[in-house]
Amino acid sequence: MRHLMSPLDFTVEELDQLMDLAADIEKHPSKYAHACEGKKLATLFYEPSTRTRLSHEAAMLNLGGQVLGFSSADSSSAAKGESVADTIRMISCYADICAIRHPKEGAPMVAAMHSSIPVINAGDGGHQHPTQTLTDLLTIRSLKGHLDHLTIGICGDLKFGRTVHSLINALVRYPGIRFLLISPEELRLPGYVREDFLEKNRIPYEEVVSLDEAIPKLDLLYMTRVQKERFFNEEDYVRMKDFYILDREKMQAAPKDMLVLHPLPRVNEISVEVDDDPRAVYFRQVQYGVYIRMALILTLLEVQVC
Ligand code: CP
Repeated sequence: MRHLMSPLDFTVEELDQLMDLAADIEKHPSKYAHACEGKKLATLFYEPSTRTRLSHEAAMLNLGGQVLGFSSADSSSAAKGESVADTIRMISCYADICAIRHPKEGAPMVAAMHSSIPVINAGDGGHQHPTQTLTDLLTIRSLKGHLDHLTIGICGDLKFGRTVHSLINALVRYPGIRFLLISPEELRLPGYVREDFLEKNRIPYEEVVSLDEAIPKLDLLYMTRVQKERFFNEEDYVRMKDFYILDREKMQAAPKDMLVLHPLPRVNEISVEVDDDPRAVYFRQVQYGVYIRMALILTLLEVQVC
């Protein structure tokens, strides 16, 4: 039985197969419409979510399966003190696969250790968000045509943004990748991500503060929001929250084929006037998130579709 805790749980070859499957689902959705009939997905969300929970649910429904779950810790027996380990033992009796989001780093791993069904990490604290990374990789591969030889700007909250940590972790395995890490001093990438993912793999990177200086050099710009929920005090958040705002003027300095991605939700960091720019692909990214999660569910449940 296989779980998904980190994007590195799949080899580069397995990721290619997963993305090929997602591309086939995009082209031939009806072929997969009954693939998971009789199967159930449980979504255990101890933290708020729109995309990750609903896209997992949409993915299972598109495959002909059914869904159950909870969308906040308060509406589950976690509010009475039940542990993740005990909860997953129950869920293993009710469902065939589950996706769990939790504010504590490592909670999905604890669930996986006590589970008799595949567990998907749907985001754990500021640590990892592997299904967002699968979504990002599929978006880049589909719209750029390749995942190698790219200069990628990652902008915003690089300290707390788990999507950033997962994406860097995954992309360092492709040749010719370099990063421009664009953030205020206070929100720089954590030391362990820099050392374990970038420096150990000898990946070229630069830490810069100015988005204006970085933008002309980029193949991709991955914008992120400042993670309000991970700040210890409101004052620091207010000081940081509008540090970067990508607007039409800034986009004028960007290469004609630079793509703008964002895991969403967006707050102020991308002005709505950018939404109509053909290089802004963050809403298309959301659709790719459904295809890749369909492919992931089929793969973890070992369902073959001929
Ligand atoms: N991208 C993402 O994780 O969005 P949600 O928090 O809405 O799931």
